Amino acid sequence: MLETKPSKAPPTIYLKNYQAPDYYIETIDLHFELGEKHTTVHSRLALSRHSKADSPSLVLNGEELELLSIKQDGQVLSKKNYYQDSESLTLLQVPDCFTLEIETRIYPQDNTTLSGLYTSSGNFCTQCEAEGFRRITYFLDRPDVMARYTTTIVADEKKYPILLSNGNLIAQGKWDTGRHFAKWQDPFPKPSYLFALVASDLARIEDEFITLSGRKIQLHMYVQPHNQDQCDHAMASLKRAMAWDEQVYGREYDLDIYMIVAVDDFNMGAMENKGLNIFNSKYVLAKPETATDTDYENIEAVIAHEYFHNWSGNRVTCRDWFQLSLKEGFTVFRDQQFSADQGSSAVKRIQVVNHLRSYQFREDAGPMAHPIRPESYVEINNFYTLTIYEKGAEVVRMLYRLLGTEGFRKGTDLYFKRHDGQAVTTDDFVQALEDANNTDFSQFRLWYSQAGTPELRISRIYDPEMSTYTLKVKQTCPPTPEQPHKAPFHIPLAIGLLDAEGRDLPLRLAGEAEAITGTRVLELRQAEETFVFQDIPCKPVPSLLRGFSAPVKLYLGLSNEEYCFLLVHDKDHFNRWEAGQQLAIKILLGLVEDHQQGKPLILDPAFTNTIEKILAGDESDQAFVAQILTLPSEHYLAEFMTVIDPEAAYKARRFLQRGLAEALHSTFTTTYESLAGTSPYHSSPEEIGRRKLRNICLEYLMTLDGPDIKSRCLQQFNESDNMTDVIAALSSLADTESSERKIALQAFYNQWKNDSLVMDKWLSLQALSRRQDTLTIVKKLTQHPAFKLTNPNKVRALIGAFCQGNPVRFHDPSGEGYRFLRDYILKLDPLNPQIAARLASTFNLWRRYDQNRQIIMKEQLEHIVNSPRISKDVYEITTKALG
Ligand code: TRP
Ligand code: ZN
Repeated sequence: MLETKPSKAPPTIYLKNYQAPDYYIETIDLHFELGEKHTTVHSRLALSRHSKADSPSLVLNGEELELLSIKQDGQVLSKKNYYQDSESLTLLQVPDCFTLEIETRIYPQDNTTLSGLYTSSGNFCTQCEAEGFRRITYFLDRPDVMARYTTTIVADEKKYPILLSNGNLIAQGKWDTGRHFAKWQDPFPKPSYLFALVASDLARIEDEFITLSGRKIQLHMYVQPHNQDQCDHAMASLKRAMAWDEQVYGREYDLDIYMIVAVDDFNMGAMENKGLNIFNSKYVLAKPETATDTDYENIEAVIAHEYFHNWSGNRVTCRDWFQLSLKEGFTVFRDQQFSADQGSSAVKRIQVVNHLRSYQFREDAGPMAHPIRPESYVEINNFYTLTIYEKGAEVVRMLYRLLGTEGFRKGTDLYFKRHDGQAVTTDDFVQALEDANNTDFSQFRLWYSQAGTPELRISRIYDPEMSTYTLKVKQTCPPTPEQPHKAPFHIPLAIGLLDAEGRDLPLRLAGEAEAITGTRVLELRQAEETFVFQDIPCKPVPSLLRGFSAPVKLYLGLSNEEYCFLLVHDKDHFNRWEAGQQLAIKILLGLVEDHQQGKPLILDPAFTNTIEKILAGDESDQAFVAQILTLPSEHYLAEFMTVIDPEAAYKARRFLQRGLAEALHSTFTTTYESLAGTSPYHSSPEEIGRRKLRNICLEYLMTLDGPDIKSRCLQQFNESDNMTDVIAALSSLADTESSERKIALQAFYNQWKNDSLVMDKWLSLQALSRRQDTLTIVKKLTQHPAFKLTNPNKVRALIGAFCQGNPVRFHDPSGEGYRFLRDYILKLDPLNPQIAARLASTFNLWRRYDQNRQIIMKEQLEHIVNSPRISKDVYEITTKALG
């Protein structure tokens, strides 16, 4: 075995060491000469010292820059006045107030990291969050340095007719050399991470929005000319988001123009640069033939998310990167509220919680566990996590629940007013909510500083003589890498108690004068608490943690009958669904055990009957019924296994699916046939629900593997006018060994081979197939022209999907999947460390598997750590995993 060799460890950055900058930069004038070989950047900074002189020097951030010249107050600086290393430029002797001119040369065409200035499909674009600006020019590249930007872009007019940056266009012109220029000015001071530049020959789609106060805003979307017909949905979503933020948060847009540019090569979903959002084209482009309902929903959510950042992120920004959840948690919460308002709020909540529990809970239980305000990091790009985003949103949601709609709005109004134009902390956010409501969140703040998923253990006693019902609640939180002990959290626990008819009982605690009807919120504050409800006439069925009122694990131990009862009767839609999920988990864990002990698997008829009742019932929200029918994922099931057994999890889930399909064969068939749609396609919530329910019926029927259903599935594939139904059919077929599979995959390829986003789906569904030979197929696909290692969407669609979405095949006991992943991490790291590190985190839970798998995964991690020149990004993830 290899010994971990002492490599030079990159430094850890600590929140406790935060210091305000010595200098502020009031204005920055940027001048870009874009070229085919290289680009020159000239920057003129107005700097002023704001702290007492500690040292006469100034350190600017800068990476991968060729320094051409420096002038201080117009004087060229000689080499003895400064020095450079690979990450900074130090000016040895600077006055309190001066201008600095710096010229650098960069190579955007060779930039595969997709951070800083780079080219994508021949167009220039930037990505500066978190620390990409320092790859463009030397600067104080930190969010608490806010400057006014003026940007001049000079480029070849033919190749790059469109020249964009933040703010307003203040000048443009052309020269007879074939070059032209545009000058942009952003009136709002902003941190460097919000800077953006685009030079392209994209097509422009125009629309406008009239704000509440009557201002007319130009809305411009830039996409490749052949995609012009795919912007309607994104544009409509943007206008809805703008109106929603005015109505719900009183937030109006502040510039006269709002631009969105779609690019094919992008590390994340999208970026909220001031007035000039840059998007992964996946979150802009949609038409019914090529985008699924999920794509439509995601586009709406991401468009809204980036728009909402204009207030929660840009007008009020983060003091430092430890405060990332200040903008991300809050903005995710806002986009979730927005999406919930557009369609079925119950289904939206279910999807959010599903995602959180399947992925954020694992992060919180692994080597990368961190509070939503971390104490330290090595590479900030590794902290754009599910914890910062999704758990951060849950924390804001709890504040919302504790304050109520009005109180929360008072709080956010004060927050925006008090901190407009500032770079602030999560503490400032909580403080504003407290001040506006005259309340105390000191204990609640622990949600910002303590990592890990709290656990609630609840016991219940009914006393028929006293007519009381007692809930005893114990809260604990498991130790995480840096925090062995935790103090109790302040937790809102929303509950209802159901009588025998399924109605909510009025709830009165001892000492209260009046009962509360409907859901009520208990506020937990101690490690152990007891709540005694009065006048409870008969033994109720408890419905606890309604709406998932806190990001915790609940251990209540209901009986199967109680779960079935809630599944049918609970007023709270989330908890109806949840009862079904928890019952399914119970059943699946039983099946896992039977599988492991070589016992035959048997199906519980009570579950089947309840599912049948729901299918036959009068629930009008078909998307909700489809959610109920969706069994817990293998990932979520793994949460409940002490030693994760991917094979058993898959087998158990598959068995339960098949069992239901057999027992309810005719119900599924009639439901499927009765829900057939009519052209043309609509993306209304009702239609999305119909397709969802119909396609889940198909998925069940396809587990039965009969020839008739396969040809019915192929028929759906051939005859559908929309990608949702096509993909539903094709992914079911991709799982089979049939001839239909080959036919359909080939036909799909022939039809869509020139549409890169559709090809991502083609790659993904093959990578997600549970067939035995999937890894062989995935390896072949890495050589296919549809795959490209430098494009993150392709990497996620093929390698990400296989390693993170196909546990039974990735965790094959041979270790082939592990070695495959290791190879790709090492291939990608020199090209794009951010994406390589994301892939590397797939190994984070290696300790949760059996010994054989542990050994092989550990070997891969050690191999990576011992490879020469690995990035900070991959270094941090792998060393923490080995920990
Ligand atoms: N602020 C972006 C968002 O949440 C996130 C983002 C986009 C990002 N691109 C990035 C983060 C690159 C790190 C690196 O909307
Ligand atoms: Zn964001």
